[in-house]
Amino acid sequence: MAQIPSFQIASPQVYNEHVLALGKDLVIRLQILLKLCGIHERNNVALVRPSERLVETLAVFHRTAAEVALRLSRDFLYIDEVRVRYDIETATSYNYLLDEMKRRRIGAISFKGPVDAVTARTFGAVFVGIETTHPDPPYEMQKRLVAGNCFSITVEAYDEPPEQPLDTIMDERKRAKRTYFRAISSLKGIVHALKEGQAVELRRVKRSVQSIIDVMLREEFSLLGLTTLKDYDEYLYNHCINVSIFALTLGKRLGLPKSHLTNLGVSSVFHDIGKVEIPHEIIDKPTEFTEEDWRQVKEHPSLGVKILSRIRGLNDLTMVSMVVSFEHHLRHDSKGYPALRSRAEWDMHFFSRIVALADQYDAMTSSRVYQRVPFSPDKALSVMAERSGTHFEPALLKVFVNMVGIYPIGTLLLLDTKELALVFDTNPTPANANRPRVLVITDPSGNQIEARTADLTEIDARTGRHKRSVVKVLDVHKYNINLAEYFI
Ligand SMILES: [Fe+2]
Ligand SMILES: [Fe+2]
Repeated sequence: MAQIPSFQIASPQVYNEHVLALGKDLVIRLQILLKLCGIHERNNVALVRPSERLVETLAVFHRTAAEVALRLSRDFLYIDEVRVRYDIETATSYNYLLDEMKRRRIGAISFKGPVDAVTARTFGAVFVGIETTHPDPPYEMQKRLVAGNCFSITVEAYDEPPEQPLDTIMDERKRAKRTYFRAISSLKGIVHALKEGQAVELRRVKRSVQSIIDVMLREEFSLLGLTTLKDYDEYLYNHCINVSIFALTLGKRLGLPKSHLTNLGVSSVFHDIGKVEIPHEIIDKPTEFTEEDWRQVKEHPSLGVKILSRIRGLNDLTMVSMVVSFEHHLRHDSKGYPALRSRAEWDMHFFSRIVALADQYDAMTSSRVYQRVPFSPDKALSVMAERSGTHFEPALLKVFVNMVGIYPIGTLLLLDTKELALVFDTNPTPANANRPRVLVITDPSGNQIEARTADLTEIDARTGRHKRSVVKVLDVHKYNINLAEYFI
């Protein structure tokens, strides 16, 4: 979590940045307190530190404004007029607050300074104590707050019109988002259990993979859009789920039946599980790896086999997961690691070949400790194309490149209208592969606008020419664009 900055606020612009930085903390700390209030009585010692942490964040806000309000509008949270950044770190807390505020029809929570820890705990207890079936939760909540001497925190009713049924695209995107973050949290649970030496059940991961498959079979671009999320701190979880999504999408293109897809998905989620046994100092090392570091990192495929063998009830699924863990850094020409004694006879499992591709692509497009600047998606593909026949099986690589597209999802494009746009869905027709669906994010002068979709195959009826065409690919990292804002 970000350190609370202690600077004084000078201008509205600085204030907005300040709110963005603090907004994340407010959302996370409020959610933690509410969640714990749902478990413990308000005097329980477990609530002391979380309520103090919330109060610390509020105190920083109150240095510059007497009151700060957390507002709900449609599917977004705002602090005053500034939309709270949604990223991987805040995703769970953000979704929790959205859901719980909506369920209680609360449109805003206002904090008038100073707020003390006891008041914060009272608020938490009152908030979670309101039955969502109550005829007027905001009124009842406000009444109970006053009765509990909680005057510095007030609530307002959510008075926006009832939500319109979402169009199918938004609906799918929501479902994809939920599925993605659930998969991350179930993987976290498994890793935690493995580290603690507890018995591990595969069921949760299997269920997560099955929901990924369900979303993917309906439409795949929402999930592929989510793979543009690369979170440095949560790299391992994030990477494993991304690899699983790429592997499953490729498996689907190859026509694998659903039962095989499940096994492919689960084994790809676990491909790097061996990394949990490598010391953090090595994995997170900010400098180049030494030879000794590499020797240890290269152990992770075999360590993965060892870890997976501890899972209760060995079956086909655990066996194939072990194989994929062992083989995912082997190359098509049998080089790579672990070093094999007899390369000529080694026949890599089909799933391992798929995971090797998915793994390389996601790793190249992520910034990691040992690769600070990630490749752009198209650059990663061209590097992979050079490795056809050596690292990768040519036929599979071809299908993968087709699937990811000439302009993969998340690529930043300059259009001939001078607008900037992000690819959000590839064009399935090979003849139109250079005309994806995009989100236009700036006007021709480069001013950021509310993103709107555009299909680059669209023809202007007057001129008979395409309305928009790609001029070139730009580096998203140089333009300070937060992909998470557009894809989740
Ligand atoms: Fe790996
Ligand atoms: Fe990996």
